[in-house]
Amino acid sequence: MPPLRRILSRYQVRRRVKELAAQLRVDYAGQRPVFVACLKGAFVFLADLVRQVGVPLQVDFIMVSSYGMGTTSKGQITVLLDVTADIAGRHVVLVDDIIDSGGTLQFLREHLLSRGPASLRVCALLARESALAEGTVIDYLGFPVPPGFVVGYGLDCAEEYRQLPDIYVLEGER
Ligand code: PRP
Repeated sequence: MPPLRRILSRYQVRRRVKELAAQLRVDYAGQRPVFVACLKGAFVFLADLVRQVGVPLQVDFIMVSSYGMGTTSKGQITVLLDVTADIAGRHVVLVDDIIDSGGTLQFLREHLLSRGPASLRVCALLARESALAEGTVIDYLGFPVPPGFVVGYGLDCAEEYRQLPDIYVLEGER
């Protein structure tokens, strides 16, 4: 097993999630937004986030093809599990754990926008500094992160580490 180096503690994450939730509470007051979480990685973040937002909201999920079992890059993206809610005319918040290249986000944006939501914003716990520098727009961002394979707090490597309360980088991985 490669060694883990902690980059964010559960306390740092908790504090930031609270801040994001406070902003969402203000922005979505009275709108009953639909929070669409991208499985699997976002499940922990979503669970913590929605319990802090404090306005009536709906939760839904989407799952797309991913990196698979390793740490190598993926090819074409396909929808494995689609949202069940009718999001036409609704205010949608797409929730993801990490924006890496931004490819999944771009795909999900187009996919969800094709359903005609009233609005679509993105809330991501983590995003690569490189993706941000390239102009990827994230409306609610927890933390920018440097290169390195990130695990814990829902994020995995070959389905390991999702259950860890803190966030780590796998030493020796890309
Ligand atoms: C991660 C993450 C994003 C995507 C980001 O999911 O949750 O959905 O990768 O990568 P990109 O910006 O380069 O497109 P992953 O494929 O690891 O699946 P998982 O959520 O099931 O772990």
